[in-house]
Amino acid sequence: MRLRWGLFVVVIALIILSGIYVYMNNQSFEMPIQSPPQKQSEESNTGLLPIPQLLVDSNPEELVADYYLSAQNGLSNFIEGKQTPTLGYNGNYLGPVIKVSNGEEVRMHVKNELDMATSVHWHGLVVPGTSDGGPHQLIQPQSIWEPSFTINQPASTLWFHPHVMGTTAIQVYYGLAGMIIVEDENSKELNLPDDYGINDIPLIIQDRNFNTDGSFVYLDNMMDGAVGNYVLVNGAVTPDLVVQQVKMRFRVLNGANARNFNLRLDDNNAFYQIASDGGLIEAPLLVENLFITPGERAEIVIDFSKYDKGDVVKLLNDNELVMTLLIGDDSEDLTEIPDSLAVIEKMDENLATGVKTIVLDGMGHMVSMNGRKFDINRVDDNVTLGDIEIWELSTTSGMMMGSPGHPFHIHGTQFQVLSRDGSPPYLNERGWKDTVYVRANETVRIIVKFDYEGLYMYHCHILEHEEAGMRGQLEVK
Ligand code: C2O
Ligand code: CU
Ligand code: CU
Repeated sequence: MRLRWGLFVVVIALIILSGIYVYMNNQSFEMPIQSPPQKQSEESNTGLLPIPQLLVDSNPEELVADYYLSAQNGLSNFIEGKQTPTLGYNGNYLGPVIKVSNGEEVRMHVKNELDMATSVHWHGLVVPGTSDGGPHQLIQPQSIWEPSFTINQPASTLWFHPHVMGTTAIQVYYGLAGMIIVEDENSKELNLPDDYGINDIPLIIQDRNFNTDGSFVYLDNMMDGAVGNYVLVNGAVTPDLVVQQVKMRFRVLNGANARNFNLRLDDNNAFYQIASDGGLIEAPLLVENLFITPGERAEIVIDFSKYDKGDVVKLLNDNELVMTLLIGDDSEDLTEIPDSLAVIEKMDENLATGVKTIVLDGMGHMVSMNGRKFDINRVDDNVTLGDIEIWELSTTSGMMMGSPGHPFHIHGTQFQVLSRDGSPPYLNERGWKDTVYVRANETVRIIVKFDYEGLYMYHCHILEHEEAGMRGQLEVK
């Protein structure tokens, strides 16, 4: 009898718990966007890979740049005959590419033409906290934010996106994101493909879902954030790109809210990875696949000289189509992939002044960091300017079975990975990183230093995890 009652209580408890779990994972959001005020020309995002415009520097002076960005409502055409309300910078969806040089003084002029507050965070850029564009630098509707900073880091592929409490994930999903390319003396001297739009191509990879009327479905009720059945590259569904028989450099950004991509060519030919988040790695790495998690970037070079005109090569995520490469004409190729790409000084573990432990807990909406959820009025950590610290990142699955991995990101710095579960880091993460994937039940040790003062966020880059509280903030002074 006692046993039966015990069983009954356990069953009831399980039913209640799973009810709470389903409820907590089932909040869906209505996008607070309006139709564009004036009729905008519809962008055709089907067929060929769109190449984002390079943003024009409106300052003629050398080493000083003025860039104008405007967050706005738009209409896009992803699916034949259907219109999708979207958001974009200076356009309908995504934004222009901003190309800057190390040492350059950059003044940004960001206008918010949306009906809701936004912010623009320069992901990967090492700048003072007040210019970082996190939730402490909100831009109200019809307002302008004008941060300025001097680029102080090596050549790299970075990006920008909103960072607003509660609406980051949805603003990014609707289209607010863009790429930043940093050049430096070294990258200009190397003979890598660097002709933007010709042999140096951004690939902003995302996934989306659509309603039958063409509008986006934003559902964050998935176990691990908003994932979609359609793969978009630079805002076009599984597009085509015609390439000549030369070496092509692709700057890959995982711009998805929550999905990991494992990229490979359908013929399993190898390609080179030449850069990670924060810049060129020391030597090119010949790989057959590139695993890339939300927020991370990688630069790769594919040599198409081994193909013939008319060949078709598919870029896949495991077995799912990402884009199609159509091989065109033979062409002279003066570029090369040098054996040595950059010199990366290893940060010395012995100089570390402290160890921080970061535990990424849970899944779905039931996430936290070090056992608590983010509070914008609480500073979680203090760091002394210039101090070197070791951060130990690990994951727990909380009360539910199974645990996802978490792409962990820190603002305002580029760090180095020391180890994964005591083993050396992967070959492609031995350069500068600002986002590192921490797998389930894994401990990743990184070494970090901050060069500017201010408040900075650190969080899981699954945007739904970040919004649900898997985030902290630190003050550097
Ligand atoms: Cu892409 Cu808080 O960052
Ligand atoms: Cu960031
Ligand atoms: Cu996460």
